[in-house]
Amino acid sequence: MAPPPISPPETPGQPTGQSLWGGRFSAKPADVMQAINVSIGTDQRLWRQDIEGSRAHCEMLAASGIIGREDADAILSGLDQIEAEISEGRFPFREAFEDIHMNIEARLAELIGEAAGRLHTARSRNDQVATDFRLWVREQADQVMALITEVQRALLDQAERHAEVIMPGFTHLQPAQPVTFGHHLMAYVEMLARDRGRFQDARARLNECPLGAAALAGSPFPIDRHRTAAVLGFERPMRNSLDAVSARDFALEVLAAASILGGHLSRLSEEIVVWMTPQFGFVRLPDDLTTGSSIMPQKRNPDAAELVRAKTGRLTGAFVALSTVMKGLPLAYSKDMQEDKPPVFEAMDALMLALNATLAMVRALRPDEGRMLAAAGSGYSTATDLADWLVRELNLPFRQAHHITGRAVMMAETAGVGLDDLSLDQLQSLEPRIHSGIYEVLSVKASVNSRQSHGGTAPDQVRARIRQWKEML
Ligand code: ARG
Repeated sequence: MAPPPISPPETPGQPTGQSLWGGRFSAKPADVMQAINVSIGTDQRLWRQDIEGSRAHCEMLAASGIIGREDADAILSGLDQIEAEISEGRFPFREAFEDIHMNIEARLAELIGEAAGRLHTARSRNDQVATDFRLWVREQADQVMALITEVQRALLDQAERHAEVIMPGFTHLQPAQPVTFGHHLMAYVEMLARDRGRFQDARARLNECPLGAAALAGSPFPIDRHRTAAVLGFERPMRNSLDAVSARDFALEVLAAASILGGHLSRLSEEIVVWMTPQFGFVRLPDDLTTGSSIMPQKRNPDAAELVRAKTGRLTGAFVALSTVMKGLPLAYSKDMQEDKPPVFEAMDALMLALNATLAMVRALRPDEGRMLAAAGSGYSTATDLADWLVRELNLPFRQAHHITGRAVMMAETAGVGLDDLSLDQLQSLEPRIHSGIYEVLSVKASVNSRQSHGGTAPDQVRARIRQWKEML
């Protein structure tokens, strides 16, 4: 939803936010006071949650006999009207009314008159904003979890299609041992599962309702906090009113989870960037997910992957920003906490975009099987297989096997050939008991097929994991 533009501060004589709290003031706020205080440009994104919270509060006030049924009905129909105005883009967001809470309340007063003034009974903006923000973050966490699952499904499909495709596995970005492309992609399925778990955990802890804590100390009215909590889908009301209005760790937890997830997405993106270089040439992305250069006609740039890689900065930055705001704040509410929303909004926007871009790239990735296989065979990537063979067949201690293999690599390197191009004579000059059976383990295919240990890269193993995941998702 693109929110409508904000109208400039009111001209003198018209109502301002002061009309909601200005009883004990004799002067209007200075321009700079107004400028630093205003948050409607940002927190208007909470409008749905604000209306939802107000409806629940209003129903509860009526059911508990705190306000009359008629007033409650007027308030509810006014809120319906406001909902329609905002979703149709014709709500007058006004800086003069500071934030989303007072914009809605002021509009309610314009629409229904005096009854609007009863909505704020037994409520403060402090518990109101805490409730709105929890609802918003909860919704985002749900969306992130659903998107993570989509990305996992896309990875699973690709992994299944390419369970047998052999590529080099790297350590230090040097060819290490052959693996399969399917196995490599499945590593990200595992990471993303833990990421979803972190959002799930954060969601479970955030799902308690601050509403009814009022300003900080609770309310003298006979409110029913269990009722509002249940109506808003929370597990329970928060147990301590001071904590209820002061806590923002729910947002920090989600940002921490987002930052870790962003780190994982950046690693996948980095691999896509590297794999797409002509030097690697492991994968291709279609035209619609790459860009050209305005000067170099031959270029095909992986901009989407690079930007996903970069978005991580905003995610981690948001966590640092909010934890710095919260550090050292005395209980209960301080206006510092109004600064909680920009980093969270920005981070969640960046994360959604990064997840969607990742999803599109994963679905569209096309590996070049020939280049991957050729690269898998280069760099003496089956050297460990040779050493393992010496241990298994000749019962050599691994260290000694390692040394002999190193000599074999040196011999091959000097001759400019692969390990499996060395003749039996050459190999026997290093260890006379070596026999022709050794050639069975020197191919990359044999190497990959032999790694049958739980979680290993052998295609059977990878397929078994894919089946398991397909059931779990
Ligand atoms: N706009 C404020 C915020 O986001 C709402 C709470 C204001 N409360 C107060 N006591 N001034 O934090």
